[in-house]
Amino acid sequence: MGTATSSPATGSGEAGKQATAVDQQEQDDGGPWGVDLSIPFEEIIDIRPLADGTGCTCWQGTLGGNNEGNKRVAIKTLKASNSTSDSDAEDLDRELSILQHLRHPNVVRLAGAGQTPEGGQFVVTELLSGGTLSAAIGTQDRPEGTGWFQRFRVRTWFPMEEALRQAAGVASALAYLHDEAVPHGISVVKGAKVLHRDIKPNNLAFTADFRTLKLFDFGLAKMLRPDDSIGDNLYNMTGNTGSMRYMAPEVARNLPANETADVYSFAIVLWEMVSLELPFQFYGVNQLTERVILGGARPRLAPDWPAGFTDLLTRCWSADLRERPSMAEVEKRLREVLQQPGGNARDVYLLKHILLVGIDILTSSLGEHRSV
Ligand SMILES: Nc1ncnc2c1ncn2[C@@H]1O[C@H](COP(=O)(O)OP(=O)(O)OP(=O)(O)O)[C@@H](O)[C@H]1O
Ligand SMILES: [Mg+2]
Repeated sequence: MGTATSSPATGSGEAGKQATAVDQQEQDDGGPWGVDLSIPFEEIIDIRPLADGTGCTCWQGTLGGNNEGNKRVAIKTLKASNSTSDSDAEDLDRELSILQHLRHPNVVRLAGAGQTPEGGQFVVTELLSGGTLSAAIGTQDRPEGTGWFQRFRVRTWFPMEEALRQAAGVASALAYLHDEAVPHGISVVKGAKVLHRDIKPNNLAFTADFRTLKLFDFGLAKMLRPDDSIGDNLYNMTGNTGSMRYMAPEVARNLPANETADVYSFAIVLWEMVSLELPFQFYGVNQLTERVILGGARPRLAPDWPAGFTDLLTRCWSADLRERPSMAEVEKRLREVLQQPGGNARDVYLLKHILLVGIDILTSSLGEHRSV
């Protein structure tokens, strides 16, 4: 039996607020990593709270007891208070069934699943112990006790060049989901596209060495078969899924949509990675609806950003789905921008962000706390 202090088995649901700092232990990301859909619960040890999601609680632990050696893992269970909600249980099922198809360096790896002693399902993935993108860039969910030095380090450590490099990796993951993940040979879902539908900084996290940013949380993901299309590469889908700040207008408006909804969300996240500011920071739901979804407002583009980059953002978050490039093209363009001399605008960047850290220190000392 696992040596949990509070555990997924008891479903105490106390993971959230206590556990923003993730174990920094190096993880064996390169070794063999098979999928086991009936992991005995006892094989997971050292279980500790990790974070709370909307419908799920996440734990971190060590998966051992097989020939592959121990692995640091994340364990996702339904929240105790929500364990009877059908839609949360469906999200967890869907996540498990979709993750089984996926293998990409920028997509979280599935280790398997199993049942707690109480009969609840748990899903096990590799632990992304570098923490989420939003925690890293400090735009949301700033970990308790994040001091000025850490914020300074993040802002200088994450200059435009690094942001573009990480974003190109995520773009490659999305291109894989949209174009390759489910090839024509696979029986039930031949040639399907996988849409993530919840791309946001809280669903992206770093490996322990901070070198790789990976996409996780496939609870809202959807597989679209060619036959499902209503024509013109459009699909009827449940609208209003995901987080409104990052949501494509057609999704928010419950209109037919397609994989370019992910392209829109990716662009908003990319803007956040480069500007280190929360998009539409002061907008509530009504302003997001009126100004962004209906009014076409978009985040501000800085004049010192390379033209190739600002053009790309503008196309990606176009209100017209047909204007948005494919994720394969986005990845290609980002790599082109990275190749350009001076493409990272580093000096302006550093000056601006040293200044921002100053403002951060001031606002923190006045007790202000940025919220979502
Ligand atoms: N593999 C992982 N490695 C590190 N942290 C993780 C991992 N999986 C989940 N987490 C943490 O747990 C949180 C909640 O997980 P997840 O996003 O999968 O749940 P959710 O209920 O679908 O969340 P939400 O609906 O709020 O996006 C994440 O934001 C992250 O902080
Ligand atoms: Mg999530």
